Order: sequence, then structure tokens, then C-alpha cells
Amino acid sequence: MKTPGYYEYCNRVKVISGHQVLESIPQFLQGLKAKNPLIITDKGVSGVGLVDIVLKAMGGVNLPVFDNVPPDSDLNTVREIAENYRANHCDAIIAIGGGSVIDTAKGVNILVSLGGDNLMQFAGSGKVKSRLKPLLVIPTTSGTGSEVTLVAVIADHERSVKLGFVSYNLLPDIAILDPRMTQTLPPHLAALTAMDALSHACEAYTCLSKNPLSDGDALLAIRLISNNILKSIANPNDLDARLALAHGSTLAGAAFSNSMVGMVHSLGHATGGVCHVPHGTCMSIFLPYGLEYNLKKVEPLIAELLFPLAGETVFASTPKEQRAHKAVQHIRDLNQQLYDATNGRHARNLGEIMDRDGNRQVPKEKLPEIAKTATGDGAQFYNPEDLDYNDFLMVLEHAWEGKLLGG
Ligand SMILES: [Fe+2]
Repeated sequence: MKTPGYYEYCNRVKVISGHQVLESIPQFLQGLKAKNPLIITDKGVSGVGLVDIVLKAMGGVNLPVFDNVPPDSDLNTVREIAENYRANHCDAIIAIGGGSVIDTAKGVNILVSLGGDNLMQFAGSGKVKSRLKPLLVIPTTSGTGSEVTLVAVIADHERSVKLGFVSYNLLPDIAILDPRMTQTLPPHLAALTAMDALSHACEAYTCLSKNPLSDGDALLAIRLISNNILKSIANPNDLDARLALAHGSTLAGAAFSNSMVGMVHSLGHATGGVCHVPHGTCMSIFLPYGLEYNLKKVEPLIAELLFPLAGETVFASTPKEQRAHKAVQHIRDLNQQLYDATNGRHARNLGEIMDRDGNRQVPKEKLPEIAKTATGDGAQFYNPEDLDYNDFLMVLEHAWEGKLLGG
């Protein structure tokens, strides 16, 4: 029975962090009794030499590599990689990449551990009921937090939806944080992935399943991300800032893995599903809107965010009744600073996102479909303020033009 104050908190991922930690991977694989791991990654990661860095750090080993995970990976990709794993007689997985790669690796791990090729049967909460094969994750972005979460989000392109998989058995065994792995990330990707991490922490702290332990993770994550996001974009060789940002992202992942997220992610999943907008771009745009929409219900909590976002001096000099609004404005200002720091490649509103052909990626007439899709997303149930179709559409219309909800 769930008594008042009841919550669950679980983070059993071993995190190995430091400036030269890739070199310890063989020793940890040995501990997991894994001899032939499949490396799962994407062309971007392998193309800039990050897989080579890992293999060299592991003593120049020769391992099977699948490097064809697409940016918006789906059920078919998962099936293809599972076949590859079986054909190579692998006994573990090393995921090297961002959210799409890590979540794909989690999906592959379900199939190769539990058998078959029908991932759909495991969608939802608690459907993965037994321990999976050893999974070691090396993030190459500081954003998703997926290296410490019990969640995987995988697209079903045939139905234009994103499927969520939630189970403690999806927690990786080991996460490796080495700043060499994020050093080559282009500034605009560093910006939007860090904003994803910031949205994890802000939603974890303000949504309904918050608890004292996830709060601690979330507040420290916000401080680390705020203090290091612009610094690490301005100077990619600042490895201390890169590592601090990685710590922020991992802490934010631990926070939301234990408290879930809210409407910012519902809108993001829906916009990603309908218009294939990268998740981090959606998070950058929707985060200030989600906080503004929830002001009436959780203003004191949003006011507390100003301290880790803007620092002690700004917090202390801002009258109490203005702190929540200032926290929301701080995030809007941060988006503008990221826009400037990336030569306009960081989107601030839905209407200015362009696809590769120079067309609007989110045509205004798609907003009703996005709003309808968002009403079916589970994250909204953890949002402090209720939302229906009209509420989602109203927020989307404001976010399309970049207008404040408050006028
Ligand atoms: Fe996210």
C-alpha cells in the first residue's frame, strides 16, 4: 500500500567518470563476464573517430561494430541490430552515442535477451520483467541522461508515434563519462542536448512525482548545466566544463528517471513524432512554456529554480514574488544566448525551425495534429497543471510564434 509520502528511488548504474576512464572498460567488461560486446553507434560518432578512441583505449581490440543508427531510430533499426548481434554471437552491448543510440541499444537488449523480434509487446511500463544482457553506455552528448534512466523512447514511423519503454531492467550496468567523448560535438548540438538535460532537471523538480532524493539530483544538475553550458560551447577544449556538463546531464537523468517528466516532454514527443524535430530542439523551445503554464500550480517551486539557474546574487536581489517569472525569463534569455553562440542554429520558436531543404519543419497547420498526439502522451499525467487538447494547442500556437503565454 502506498502511504502518504511514499516514493521509490532507484539508481543502480555504476558511473565511472574522469578524464581518462575509457581505459578501464576492459576491466569492467571482465567484471560483467562479457567477452564479445557489440558496439552500437551512429555514423556521426564513428565518422569523427570516437569509436576508434574507445577501441584504442581498450588496448586496440577488434570488436563488431554497428554504426548505422539513424538520428530518429525506430523499431526496424532495433530489429536489424538484434539480428547483427545474434549473427556475431555477442554477449554484451556497448552503446556509444546520444539519446537515439542509447535508447536503440536498450531496445536491442530487450530483443536479444528476451528473444523474438516484436519489440511492441514490451512497450509501456513494467513489461520487461527480467534482467537483460550487460549494457555499457558511453554518452557522446550531455543531454539525454539515458545512461542512468529506466526509460527508452523508440519511434514507430509507420504510426508516427514515439513508444515509451519503462522498466528497472532497462537501467544500464555501467555509464562511462569521459570528456574526450563530447569534445567533437558541434556547438548547436551541444546546445540543444544540454537544454534537454536542463528540461529533465526542471521538470523533475516541478512535476508531481518529485521526491527528496530526485530533488537533490535535479537542483545540482541545474546548477552544473547553467554554469557550464555556454562555457563548454565557447571553448570545446575546456574539458573541465565538458565533464561538469556531463555530470549535470547524468544527474538530471537520475532525477527524472525517479520522478518522471511533464508537459514539456509530452509536447516534445508529439512534435518529434509528427514533424521529426530533434528532441533537444523541442525541449529548448517548450521548457519556458511548460514552466510558465505551470506557474499557477507550482510557483514557489519554479521560484526556487532561480537560485541554481542564475546564482546566489541574482536570487537574493530578486523580490520573492518575482523569482518564478525571472526563472522562466532566464531560460528564454539562455535560448537567445545559445542562438547567438551558434550563429542562429539554435531554434527559439517552432516557426523558425527549418529542414535541410529550407522549408518550415513545423508548418502551422500541423499544430492541431501535434496537440492531438500530445494528449496521448503519458508524461502529461505527471504535470502539475491539467491539460486538454485546447490547452496543448494554445501552448503550441504561442511556441510557434515565440509569444509569452502571459501576453
Ligand atoms: Fe528529454
